[in-house]
Amino acid sequence: MSSSRAQGGQAAKSSGQPAANAGAGQQVSGDAVLLGIAVAETSNVALLGQEEVIGARIAEKLVNADGGVNGRPVKLLFQDTGGDEIGAINAFQAVINAGVLGIVGPTLSQQAFAADTRADAAGVPVLGPSNTAKGIPQIGKFIGRVSAGVDVVAPLAVEQALKLNPEVKRVAVAFAQNDAFSSSETKIFQATVKKKGLDLTLVQRFQTSDTDFTSQVTNIVGSKPQLVIVSGLAADGGNLVRQLRELGYKGLVIGGNGLNTTNVLPVCGRFCDGILIAQAYSPAVDNPINKRFVEAYNQQTGKQPPQFTAQTFTGVQVFVDALRRLDKTKRLETMDLKTLRSELNSAVLTGTYETPLGQIGFDPEGEIKQQKFYVAQIKMDAGAKSGRFVLTN
Ligand code: ALA
Repeated sequence: MSSSRAQGGQAAKSSGQPAANAGAGQQVSGDAVLLGIAVAETSNVALLGQEEVIGARIAEKLVNADGGVNGRPVKLLFQDTGGDEIGAINAFQAVINAGVLGIVGPTLSQQAFAADTRADAAGVPVLGPSNTAKGIPQIGKFIGRVSAGVDVVAPLAVEQALKLNPEVKRVAVAFAQNDAFSSSETKIFQATVKKKGLDLTLVQRFQTSDTDFTSQVTNIVGSKPQLVIVSGLAADGGNLVRQLRELGYKGLVIGGNGLNTTNVLPVCGRFCDGILIAQAYSPAVDNPINKRFVEAYNQQTGKQPPQFTAQTFTGVQVFVDALRRLDKTKRLETMDLKTLRSELNSAVLTGTYETPLGQIGFDPEGEIKQQKFYVAQIKMDAGAKSGRFVLTN
């Protein structure tokens, strides 16, 4: 494995040279092109972040098999953000000091609102692999994302729920009020419910650190909904769904993007069955890069890749594709690090990319332009020890 880890703000570089204040030539002349991967490898948020690490590692392997950046190897510098804002700020600072050209991360929007401002101020391009709250690309000129926002993705799950049960009229929502993404996503869900002419009968709040949802699920069941929509993260959201089902709720459940991982399955167990979750990725995307990605993931895990893995792969791929293009017009070695980061940012925003997410591009603010989205439903296997996300469209 060629990946390395930033330590105390210094990268382990293949050249062995001190990384801080390194010039661009040191990043690319016969040496590795450094990119930072700053996601949640620990904490509850690692339920999402671990999938991102896998995507980054597969990308590193595939882009290097294709010659890296026109012959220069790509080296990923991993730095754990943990699950909070301070962890994300520190991880970003460590990889920035180590001289990375761009950063893929962090895992949560909540972390992005804190850490991305630091990267933006330092002039380091960032691609969010899973930050879906409204307002992420607008954090700054250097901030983009490969994770489509809640406004385009979340309504699809409501539409699918209505297809499955056209009788749905009464809807309850619950959301993690201490989480920027969950608070943003619930607004879209609530607006969609109203737009569809449904009755929003109840709004319940919780914290991502909560484990006991007795009061929320009691209120929800009491409001007699036919659809419950949960915007939280995998641990809290999964627990809420489990406790809701344990109390006897039998109707449809939509989980938001924070539950979009098979790591939620051990949390809600058999009660995960049937949860609808909108997707920005399908393993069936029919292009060569997705086929290679799916094959590499499948060889490693025996499974189909999930959305966060595909998006993180895409983040690395976009940086590498943009660097390859940039190098052909202006040799990377001719630029100092500050210029190179800035040129990379412009190159990222102006390119189109054939990726596992399909063909993508960016608007001038860094918002992903993506063509297709999907909705999956969780199907638990007999015995409920394992399960799958089955695409419904
Ligand atoms: N999509 C979730 C977020 O933006 C993980 O925080």
